[in-house]
Amino acid sequence: MYNILSIQGMQWGDEGKGKITDFYSKKSDIIVRSNGGNNAGHSVVRNGIRYALQLLPSGILNPKAVNIIADGTVVSLSGLLEEIERIEKQGIKDFNLLISTRASIVMPYHQQLDKAKEIVLGKSKIGTTGKGIGPCYSDKAARLGLRIGNLIDKEYLKKRLEEVLPIKNIELKAFGIEEYTVEKMMEYFNDLTEKLLKKAKIIDTSNYLYNAIKEGKKILFEGAQGAMLSIDFGTYPYVTSSCALASAIPMNAGVPAETIKTDAIVGILKAYTTRVGEGPFPSEILDENANLIREKGHEYGTVTGRPRRIGWLDIAQVNFVVKISGVKHFSLMLTDVLSVVDEINICTGYELDGKVIDYYPANLSDLYKVKPIFISMKSWKEDISKVKKFEDLPKECQEYILKVEELTGGKVTLVSVGPDETETIVREELF
Ligand code: GDP
Ligand code: IMO
Ligand code: MG
Repeated sequence: MYNILSIQGMQWGDEGKGKITDFYSKKSDIIVRSNGGNNAGHSVVRNGIRYALQLLPSGILNPKAVNIIADGTVVSLSGLLEEIERIEKQGIKDFNLLISTRASIVMPYHQQLDKAKEIVLGKSKIGTTGKGIGPCYSDKAARLGLRIGNLIDKEYLKKRLEEVLPIKNIELKAFGIEEYTVEKMMEYFNDLTEKLLKKAKIIDTSNYLYNAIKEGKKILFEGAQGAMLSIDFGTYPYVTSSCALASAIPMNAGVPAETIKTDAIVGILKAYTTRVGEGPFPSEILDENANLIREKGHEYGTVTGRPRRIGWLDIAQVNFVVKISGVKHFSLMLTDVLSVVDEINICTGYELDGKVIDYYPANLSDLYKVKPIFISMKSWKEDISKVKKFEDLPKECQEYILKVEELTGGKVTLVSVGPDETETIVREELF
């Protein structure tokens, strides 16, 4: 049993991180989001009500827990306020939210530049969520960013805008986007900061976590996106602009590396694979099975509503992620959905130029060429969503889960059989 648990997406996002974070959040004192922004869309379903969370940690439904938006995130003020308004309308009014002074601000022009760059890329577009994530992280690295802490020092905020806007305006002009004045931006910030401070506290969250760890608090780190969307190890350039691996949490939340124990990472693994946006997808399903899975799994983007591309479980890819992250525990998600197909394929490896390879190609040109090697298993036809014990699952389903364990060398500690928090089979308690 661990006091600190991390949730990591094992594929291209949308694996069900929101559901599992909510599931564990009832046992948590603190839930932390440390990468990405409102490009994430994490669904939580409780009592049949669906909550779509983007930047808010998926522990927000628990009034006793403290929810942290940490240093490595990118925060759209208007996006966050809209999200808060949305959950408040759904009756979630009692929550504790802390935002790091060091988190980056997604400026209105970041969103405009994100969309403009996609248009220029044309056929080569990334298929971003259009939330300004890439331009915001670019400005952070270029030291042209603004941080949440700047909001509470008006004088410095103005000075910072005077430094940054002349440079950004050159770029905006080149894209035919209207330039910003310091006055207009100050007005924007004054209005939104006042609203935000009524809902959240801006503090040094790294320091808060330092004390919480010392006091032995139970902490849940909620990853956003998935390992294969990570800037360094994903299918670059068809990735997001942050690192989605649990190993990035210490850097993104300002906690010591030893805080994240490899054994205490739960790899969130969809029983098949999905991807939104462009990029290579070796195990993509191109026949009718894709539609069957898409409809049964409601595989449409939470943020953009785009239909998700569907593929078979790709163990070659999962094992690459296991190699770079050390993940040993999995939560196998949307297992119930596979009952719509007769036969389930699993990609166990790749062939490149006629040879079986034992590595995951780093170059896109190779990844577009690989031929997946499949094994086939029988599906089950029963509705498994009400099953509570592994032993009560249909034999074929049990075999599928055991096969995943055999092929990855990991343990499937949770089996998710439906979107609701109650539709979860616990095989081993970790937290
Ligand atoms: P996240 O981004 O990783 O949090 O995942 P999303 O919320 O974007 O997408 C996962 C989708 O699957 C959501 O609609 C969830 O409600 C749903 N979901 C999660 N687990 C299960 C499951 O075991 N079965 C089914 N049928 N749906 C699930
Ligand atoms: P969650 O946390 C799925 C994808 C986008 C696009 C690429 C870059 O819900 O799993 P960006 O807007 O980040 O610059 O887009 O990354 N993407 C996601 N796909 N789930 C996500 O988050 C994603 N966040 C970004 O579709 O292909
Ligand atoms: Mg999602």
